Amino acid sequence: MKVIGLNGSPRKQGNTGYLVRYALEQLENKGIETEYIDLIDYNLGQCTGCYKCVEAKKCVIQDDFLEIFDKMVEADGILLGSPSYHSSMTPMLKAVLDRAGFSGRWYVNDMKSKEDSYEWKGNAFSGKLVAPITVARRAGQNFTFAQILLWATANDCIVPGSTYWNIGVAGKGGAMDACDDAEGKSILNHLADNFEFLLKKINQ
Ligand SMILES: Cc1cc2nc3c(=O)[nH]c(=O)nc-3n(C[C@H](O)[C@H](O)[C@H](O)COP(=O)(O)O)c2cc1C
Repeated sequence: MKVIGLNGSPRKQGNTGYLVRYALEQLENKGIETEYIDLIDYNLGQCTGCYKCVEAKKCVIQDDFLEIFDKMVEADGILLGSPSYHSSMTPMLKAVLDRAGFSGRWYVNDMKSKEDSYEWKGNAFSGKLVAPITVARRAGQNFTFAQILLWATANDCIVPGSTYWNIGVAGKGGAMDACDDAEGKSILNHLADNFEFLLKKINQ
């Protein structure tokens, strides 16, 4: 059982990265393998809408995306972390999710006729546990959270909940103080409990 965590913030030592790492640590403590990934370390362009993945069954843009995609496909669970940038996920995480969601559909489906679009056989992320972790200074966590949920629920994922939304609160002026967010961390503790519960049920 493996859970990976993607940090969509360009600030590697920022609040999102801290909370994604914190959640992964709780999973490690339960004996679940984890991997933390700073997306900023990769060369990741946006989807160009070329539709070549329909035939190729993978994204054909030549950058580091397939490395991330393969890690997502191999994982049983994925934490998707993003700061709120004007109430939205960062362009970097959006680029990954656009390309993963679209090319992941053709991974297991064909589009030989228009009718094929009503015969989906799942996609690359079917049955994976996916949860958002979002952070903002004042407002916008829930919009960002909802964007990630919309991706997960359109990509055949299972979304575990917690005692509240998995959101963090940051201080003013770009403060990197998520470590002081006791409530945010307690929400992630319970999220990790739910990941463990579901991963064990799914894999038994
Ligand atoms: C471009 C930009 C847009 C932001 N938009 C919002 C926002 O809509 N609402 C908010 O409360 N904070 C906003 N912030 C503050 C960040 O969400 C906050 O500093 C957060 O901690 C950044 O996450 P990080 O520490 O993981 O980089 C914004 C920051 C930046 C740089």
